[in-house]
Amino acid sequence: MRLLALHVQDFRNLGQVSLAPSPHATIAVGQNGQGKTNLLEALYFLSTLKPLRAGRLSELVRWGSTGARVTGRFLLKGAEREISVEVSGGVRQAFVDGKKAASLEDYFGGVSVVAFTPDDLEVVKGGPDARRGFLDRAVFNRFPAFLRESREYGRALKNRNRLLREGPVEPAYLEAYDETLAKAGARVYVRRRSLMAELSPRAQATFASIGRTPEPAAYGYHPAHLGDVDFAVADEAALAVALREALAARYRRDSERRFTSVGPHVDDVTVTLGGRSARAYASQGQQRALVLGWKIAEIENLETAMGFLPLLMLDDVSSELDPERNAYLMNYLSASGAQVFLTTTDASLVRGAAAQDTLWLGVRAGAVTSPAPAEPPPVDEPQPADEPA
Ligand SMILES: Nc1ncnc2c1ncn2[C@@H]1O[C@H](COP(=O)(O)OP(=O)(O)OP(=O)(O)O)[C@@H](O)[C@H]1O
Ligand SMILES: [Mg+2]
Repeated sequence: MRLLALHVQDFRNLGQVSLAPSPHATIAVGQNGQGKTNLLEALYFLSTLKPLRAGRLSELVRWGSTGARVTGRFLLKGAEREISVEVSGGVRQAFVDGKKAASLEDYFGGVSVVAFTPDDLEVVKGGPDARRGFLDRAVFNRFPAFLRESREYGRALKNRNRLLREGPVEPAYLEAYDETLAKAGARVYVRRRSLMAELSPRAQATFASIGRTPEPAAYGYHPAHLGDVDFAVADEAALAVALREALAARYRRDSERRFTSVGPHVDDVTVTLGGRSARAYASQGQQRALVLGWKIAEIENLETAMGFLPLLMLDDVSSELDPERNAYLMNYLSASGAQVFLTTTDASLVRGAAAQDTLWLGVRAGAVTSPAPAEPPPVDEPQPADEPA
């Protein structure tokens, strides 16, 4: 997969941007507050239909404009296709080759992206909801149908919670809701479990190779309050039964508190270092390496599963890493051959990911120029002395 062209219009502070990315690294350089993250977010939104940062869709539209639009031309399995997304009036519309997309699967059609942002640290430091969001983005990348499946679960949950909020509910009346919720929930469990089975050994190995920490990392997912079912081996039907039983067992509690207290929406991902909670004990740098281990594992896993690399986006990541880990990441990026988009305030931090074909962009007050103004030649030309005599 390759992004051949990107057009952005009235997206956050970006007016009109058209660019033809490098097949390898495209690097946006600019000072704080100029629109670098916005440029990545436009591409992320195009590729996932989700904003990179939490918030309302209407925040994506440039102030004073009625709508935002992002279009990308991709090369996918030898064929070119153009997808676009428009936001206006708080509503999003997706198009494939100029026509309204028939379905989400049709829209994505194999486009996938892995983003690295400084917020990713929340995965270790933050609460369970941050970790669930992180996990679900990875699940969605791996299994695009999960976008629909997780929405089905979300709808079922909302309906059941609405009923609980309205007042005392007869258990018999709740049963139909439990049935729907349990089925949708079991699907979510299975997807998350499949992803974790692929990802956690890889992430553990990557973390070990990033180095400097002798203790092994472990990444795990175990649903909460699910009774005696053996989560590692139970099939989807058995998980649905277990969830339904757990819902029934918590009936009194849920009707008192007026919300559903068991299901995929309350689960957590555990990240440990040497068997101890990384959140409680790992240093800042170790936490960053744990996130990096996960992300690189995600990329490699997608490559194995799909046969090609996802697009990579790194928003101002180098400034957060120590020189050694930054060098590890830059080497990884250039050796992977992936198409990558980086932003930075300091070009010298990302030189390691650059090559002759790097597209350097300057971002200033929402305008994107190429090459970046006043940017010295980024890659050292081979010196005559380096050439064989
Ligand atoms: N909907 C919008 N319309 C117009 N401008 C917006 C909108 N949303 C955000 N902005 C502006 O975009 C700018 C921030 O852009 P962005 O986050 O891309 O900066 P950045 O270059 O990544 O900076 P930093 O280096 O600090 O991360 C801010 O000045 C903000 O006011
Ligand atoms: Mg930024």
